[in-house]
Amino acid sequence: MKILALSGSLRAASINSAVLRVVKQLAPASIEVRLFSGLGELPLYNPDLESALPTVAKQLRNEVASADALLIASPEYAHGVTGTIKNALDWLVAFEGFVDKPVAVLNATPRAHHADAALRETLVTMSATLIEAASITLPLPSAHIGEAELLAMPEIVSLLTGVLAEIQGAAMKPYLDCSLYIDSRHPAIVAQAAKLAEGCADEEEIAKRCFEFVRDAIKHSWDYRLNPVTCKASEVLSHGTGYCYAKSHLLAALLRANGIPAGLCYQRLTLDGDQPPYCLHGLNAVYLSQHGWYRVDARGNKPGVEADFCPPLEKLAFPIVNPLEQDLPGIHAEPLPAVVKALTEHRTVEQVYDNLPDVDRQNHTV
Ligand SMILES: Cc1cc2nc3c(=O)[nH]c(=O)nc-3n(C[C@H](O)[C@H](O)[C@H](O)COP(=O)(O)O)c2cc1C
Repeated sequence: MKILALSGSLRAASINSAVLRVVKQLAPASIEVRLFSGLGELPLYNPDLESALPTVAKQLRNEVASADALLIASPEYAHGVTGTIKNALDWLVAFEGFVDKPVAVLNATPRAHHADAALRETLVTMSATLIEAASITLPLPSAHIGEAELLAMPEIVSLLTGVLAEIQGAAMKPYLDCSLYIDSRHPAIVAQAAKLAEGCADEEEIAKRCFEFVRDAIKHSWDYRLNPVTCKASEVLSHGTGYCYAKSHLLAALLRANGIPAGLCYQRLTLDGDQPPYCLHGLNAVYLSQHGWYRVDARGNKPGVEADFCPPLEKLAFPIVNPLEQDLPGIHAEPLPAVVKALTEHRTVEQVYDNLPDVDRQNHTV
């Protein structure tokens, strides 16, 4: 998982930047902490620039969108937040990649409380999900402390290690939740998940068994021309069939029922050869403690399609072969509305095939 770290200070010897670098050093292999270094180059936010975004603003938005969580450490200037961090946040107001993002705020100046409160207020107003348990004030005796000294302070190391664990927990929560379509608490899903986990030595073995079960024991609705059209994980399990999207709902539910975070990914593929029409293809990402997010495709193998579970090597069903095909960014906790619509508004597999979901051709959104 990826945490994007933003420091509100541009000072070379900044304590806030040093704290974030220490967090990066303390992170286990499965957590990548990326420090965004371009806040000083961001122009002052001006809505008129939205039509031709400056490169650094694009970079910031891309980094935010692809991060599982944000970690902000910023000083207080004259009882307010610094212009640096406020300007960065202004570039993210109403940006869809920021909405609902889990965010933690570190305060490295114990006597300062105005900026911390203002920052929280701004973040909540911007629809971030504030991670309270990871938003703490660090008991630092002075602002003149470097990385090495911070790493030599057991209390600070312990607090920052705890912050990482809390951020990870908050960022993974949506990928463990039971929902309408990923109904991981349905009794049949719970029973199947437990059966698959029987005798497994670790989470990787459980994940592999769940993957192989959905890939091999659940028939792809179009390969086998099988009705009914399924969408909910429990429907896919009870009927033994589903389109790729529906199979990905089942795999996510089985993994979540076993306490393994799982999300949904999408590719845009050509249906036939290297020309239109195009459609979305559904697959999964599973979070493995040892490797982080790992994509798997349980749509079902057939001649020419050989997907497998062999982390960290990715072995998907379909390579991206032409310029209009793409791996869509993001790991979704819930199915895309276009996918749910296709699977719930059509009665037969033939009707679904004739109305497969695709990205919006004009806006390139789903
Ligand atoms: C322009 C300016 C204004 C400041 N205003 C405050 C303040 O209102 N309250 C406070 O506690 N500290 C204030 N400070 C002190 C900084 O918050 C403190 O030095 C902090 O550690 C700087 O963070 P940095 O080391 O990451 O740059 C101010 C510092 C500067 C440079």
